[in-house]
Amino acid sequence: MDATTITVTGAGGQIGYALLFRIASGALLGPDRSVRLRLLEIPQGLRSAEGAALELQDCAFPLLQSVDITDDARTAFDGANLALLVGARPRTAGMERADLLAANAGIFGPQGAALNEVAASDIRVVVVGNPANTNALIAAASAPDIPGDRFAALTRLDHDRALAQLAQATDASVTDIRGIAIWGNHSATQFPDVDHATVAGRPAREVLAERLGGAEAAATWLDDEFVPRVAKRGAEIISVRGSSSAASAANAAISHLRDSVAGTDGTSAAVLSRGEYGVPEGLYSSFPVTSDGSGYRIVEGLDLDDRARSRIDASVAELVAERDAVRELGLL
Ligand code: NAD
Ligand code: LMR
Repeated sequence: MDATTITVTGAGGQIGYALLFRIASGALLGPDRSVRLRLLEIPQGLRSAEGAALELQDCAFPLLQSVDITDDARTAFDGANLALLVGARPRTAGMERADLLAANAGIFGPQGAALNEVAASDIRVVVVGNPANTNALIAAASAPDIPGDRFAALTRLDHDRALAQLAQATDASVTDIRGIAIWGNHSATQFPDVDHATVAGRPAREVLAERLGGAEAAATWLDDEFVPRVAKRGAEIISVRGSSSAASAANAAISHLRDSVAGTDGTSAAVLSRGEYGVPEGLYSSFPVTSDGSGYRIVEGLDLDDRARSRIDASVAELVAERDAVRELGLL
């Protein structure tokens, strides 16, 4: 069987270091599938990627056929079946939001164009680098020959954070919980939603009400603790750890692609909106999704109450503002 070509951008960074060894060990595609790794870096990051490649060699992974390192996007994406776009321009002191969007458009536009030219016909892309949703939008817009639903931005980390918080609050195992959804942007405006979630088959709100002393206490906990805890977890990690989440982000990126390829009956991902739930067409917004192995599909037909509606609308408004800012800069 042919090996799968997997390209990781920003491979010399923290998330890259947490990703490469797990991909090479089979965590993404399973124990029977060989992989070829392509590592894309900017010139300053090449030595770090080279160091990781030396360590990959020292692991003698049976599934790892080759590791190539380059600072040329066309070389990195040539024949790629899967791509993890991790490398991004971080916000630095004094940088305005428009500067950040422009700097990242300068990365994700050319990478989208290179994917369009040289990736394999079955390419699937997950964007991890922030602002992930808008970076996915830019990459997809620069790849007109690749169907827009092959691109997604990572909100699986938010999904897994929500899962872990709900499991802890209900004293349940994460495997007992179904139906959590992350809506909107991978930012503090996101809406982590348990309204359709179950814990061991029972509605999550009912289980929370039982444990917290009533439906009102459950509602207060959801609004005042759960939602901000999940939505601001990235900032919490940065303040405690001194740098942004790396191992958990890498784990989520692997889970995102693994479930897209192997199938899942429910998770969250920021995928192309075709107007579902009133999210403007063309945005990459997080939704509850399933996959039959051919890629993520939005779960349709869920009832949203006024609380959910207004939280989703607020996060989607932020996505619209990001898109409009990039458009105004002439980058979309
Ligand atoms: P890092 O700074 O450790 O690594 C980033 C790497 O990208 C660096 O090695 C840098 O040289 C490289 N890079 C920069 N521009 C590049 C380009 N044009 N092409 C290729 N490589 C390039 O950062 P990190 O901790 O690995 O985080 C990477 C990104 O992931 C950040 O934007 C971070 O905010 C984001 N992130 C997203 C999530 C999520 O859930 N979506 C979670 C955590 C972090
Ligand atoms: C996270 O959710 O951990 C990151 O997106 C935070 C960040 O700003 O890098």
